[in-house]
Amino acid sequence: MTPRIKDILLSTDFGSEVMTRGWVRSRRDSKSGFCFLVINDGSCLADLQIIVDESIPGYHESIGGLLTGASVEIRGELVESPAKGQNVEVKATEIHLIGSCPPEYPLQKKRHSFEFLREIAHLRPRSNTFGAISRVRNRLSFAIHEFFQSRGFLYVHTPIVTSSDCEGAGEMFTVTTLDMENPPKDSNGKVDFSHDFFGKRSHLTVSGQLNVETHCLALGNVYTFGPTFRAENSNTSRHLAEFWMIEPEIAFCDLGGDMDLAEEFLRHLLGVLLEDCAADMKFFNDRIDNTVLATLEHIVASNFERLSYTEAIDELLKAKSANFEYPVKWGLDLQSEHERWLTEKVFKKPVILYDYPRDIKAFYMRQNEDEKTVAAMDVLVPKIGEIIGGSQREDRHDVLVARMKELDLNPDDYWWYLDLRRYGSVPHAGFGLGFERLIQFATGMQNIRDVIPFPRVPNNASF
Ligand code: 4AD
Ligand code: MG
Repeated sequence: MTPRIKDILLSTDFGSEVMTRGWVRSRRDSKSGFCFLVINDGSCLADLQIIVDESIPGYHESIGGLLTGASVEIRGELVESPAKGQNVEVKATEIHLIGSCPPEYPLQKKRHSFEFLREIAHLRPRSNTFGAISRVRNRLSFAIHEFFQSRGFLYVHTPIVTSSDCEGAGEMFTVTTLDMENPPKDSNGKVDFSHDFFGKRSHLTVSGQLNVETHCLALGNVYTFGPTFRAENSNTSRHLAEFWMIEPEIAFCDLGGDMDLAEEFLRHLLGVLLEDCAADMKFFNDRIDNTVLATLEHIVASNFERLSYTEAIDELLKAKSANFEYPVKWGLDLQSEHERWLTEKVFKKPVILYDYPRDIKAFYMRQNEDEKTVAAMDVLVPKIGEIIGGSQREDRHDVLVARMKELDLNPDDYWWYLDLRRYGSVPHAGFGLGFERLIQFATGMQNIRDVIPFPRVPNNASF
C-alpha cells in the first residue's frame, strides 16, 4: 500500500524513496526551473510539500493541469525540510498527473464561509475543517464501539422503519408507497393506510429505544447506534432532521446507574479525542473556538454536577440577571437558555438534571413515588445545552398501561412492548446521546450542519 501522508510526515528515514498520492492544495513556481507543490491526502490535517524540478519525468506532461484540486502521484526522495513548520518534504523524481483540475475549482486556497461550503458539500471534505471533522467523527464512532464492547455491551441493530412513536412528540416522517395524487380513502375520508406497503401507517424511527429494550431484557446490556429522523420544524443550529444516536440500555439498573454510565461514557469519549486526535483538536482550538481544549480537559478531569429538576428551577428563579426569554416555572420544560445558564454560569461544568415533571416527558419513563415526577435525566453541557436524554423505564405493567391511557396512546399498538413487562420484567434504564451534538460540542463548531457530511434540515436535502 502507498504510505499515507500522515506516516510520511513522521518518518525520519531521509534519503529513502517514497511514493505518495493526493490532491494539490497549492502550487508555487520558482523562476529557477522548479515548483513547490503542497498536497494533502486526507490522512491528517498537515500537508506534504513536494519539490518538483522541471527536468524530472512527467513534468512537462503534468504541469499544465497541476492546479489546486488536481490529483497527483509522486515518487521521490524523503528529505529533511529547511522550511519552518515541517520536518520533511519530498524531492520528486517522477510525477504523474492523475486527474487535472480546471481553474474554476470552487475550493480555492482561501477561507470560505461555512454557508458557502454547505453548498459544495461534495467537495468540502477536502477542506481543512471538514477533513478534521471527518477524522473526529470516525475516531468517535470507533471509540463508542470500543467503550461498549470492552464493557460487555452487545451491539443491536434496530429498525429504521417503524410503526411506533417512541417519543410521542408527533415529529415523524411517514414512509409510504401510496399514490400521493390519489390516495385510497376510508369511509371517513381519511387516507387508508391499510392499502399501504406495510399495511399500516409507518414512519422513519425517531429512536431505537423501544426495540433495543427487547434485547436488553434478553441479553443484558446492549446498545444501538444508528440514524434517527425527526420532522421537527426547528431551524436551529442544534437540530437536524436526520441525526445519529447512540442508545445504550442497561439491565437491572436504576436511574443512578444510568447517570453513572452517561458520565463515564462522555468523559471517556472526550479523553480519546484529546489523546488520539491531538492535531485536529488543536486546529479546532486555534481556528474555531479557543476554549475547546481547556473545556474538554476540565471535563475529563472533573465530576459532573447532579441536581434534580426541582432544584434547578429554584436555581433559575434566583437568576435575576439572566433575563430569560422563556418563563421559568415548575412544570414547564427547560429551554436551551435555561440549560446553558445552569451549565455555563452556575456550575461551569456538565450538569445532570434528574426527576423531571411527568407531564413534559415520554410515556415510558418510570413514575416516581411522588406521582408528579419521572425518573428521567438530561445531561447538559456548555454552549449546547442538552446532549443526552435518558431515563429509567417504567417496568410495572399496570402503571405503564395506565400512563398510556392517560396520554391517549392505544396499549394495543404497544402490545409487544407491554409483554416485556408481563414476562420477566426487570428494572432497566438507558439514554440517548446525539452524535452530532457531541461532535459539535467537542469541536466548538457553531452549527450542527457542519459536523455531518450531508445535513438534512427543513427545506434542504441536497446531495
Ligand atoms: O432526548 P431524546 O429525545 O431521547 C430519546 O430519544 C430517548 N429515546 C433516548 C433513550 O433514552 N434511549 O434524544 C436524545 C438525544 C438528545 O439529548 C440530543 O442530543 C439528540 O438526541 N437529539 C438531536 N440531535 C440533533 N438533532 C435533533 N433534532 C435532535 N433531537 C434529539
Ligand atoms: Mg430530550
